[in-house]
Amino acid sequence: MNHPSSTQEVPAHGDVPRHVAIIMDGNGRWARSRMLPRIAGHRRGLEAVRATVENCAERGIGYLTLFAFSSENWRRPAEEVALLMQLFQSALTQEAERLHRAAVRLRVVGDTRRFGRKIRLLIEQAERLTADNQRLTLTIAANYGGRWDILQALTRLVADKGRPEKLDEAALAPYLAMSYAPEPDLFIRTGGEQRISNFLLWQLAYSELYFTETLWPDFDAQALDQAIASYRGRERRFGRTSEQVAATLATAKRA
Ligand code: IPE
Ligand code: IPE
Ligand code: MG
Repeated sequence: MNHPSSTQEVPAHGDVPRHVAIIMDGNGRWARSRMLPRIAGHRRGLEAVRATVENCAERGIGYLTLFAFSSENWRRPAEEVALLMQLFQSALTQEAERLHRAAVRLRVVGDTRRFGRKIRLLIEQAERLTADNQRLTLTIAANYGGRWDILQALTRLVADKGRPEKLDEAALAPYLAMSYAPEPDLFIRTGGEQRISNFLLWQLAYSELYFTETLWPDFDAQALDQAIASYRGRERRFGRTSEQVAATLATAKRA
């Protein structure tokens, strides 16, 4: 699959997004409101991940990217970080086969060097097992930060090509962690906060943003459909005027 790294053609109005990227927030508050420990919220969050993967595949979405652990989340209490790592490890162990049977390709992006050996090995195995699957590409962003991504891309570019005289977007794009995917069409953040929290900074340049109060463990098919409906009602202009967009779409329709 070869995608332009920058995808700023106007999509047909009402299309399903090709790429959905989600900040899964609100697990802790979900647990607290039930007097449960935070990790219980993360466990329920994993169930919402399973359901969302299937719901996206059923709707013909090609790429789903989930922010699971940010480069800043190491600042949490050591106990919560340790439990999150355990949960990540057991999910990798238990879900790889299931994803493979569902024809889902798994990719993990982020600075994985900070994870233990066992987790790195499981990531490698799961990515290898599912590499040729084509129904949906599921990307888990783990120890990921948008600023880290831009810097690692630049570092690798310079290592490859030396210090370039002129640097343009097209030269850097292949080195970004998600160069295999088109840029997200739809960005969703659950849990009520309206911020990016160092998620995909470069790639979200022209994504449609959708924020919902729904806490991540409660994010179900209906909540996904609401986000998609909001997306379908939007006019993506990529800097052009409304009239230009209408003319482009009319031409595409006649063709
Ligand atoms: C998101 O839920 C999951 C991770 C960041 C790992 P939170 O744990 O941030 O939940 P809240 O924001 O405290 O409710
Ligand atoms: C963002 O959630 C990161 C993930 C969902 C993995 P946070 O809950 O860590 O974000 P902030 O710190 O409230 O911005
Ligand atoms: Mg949070």
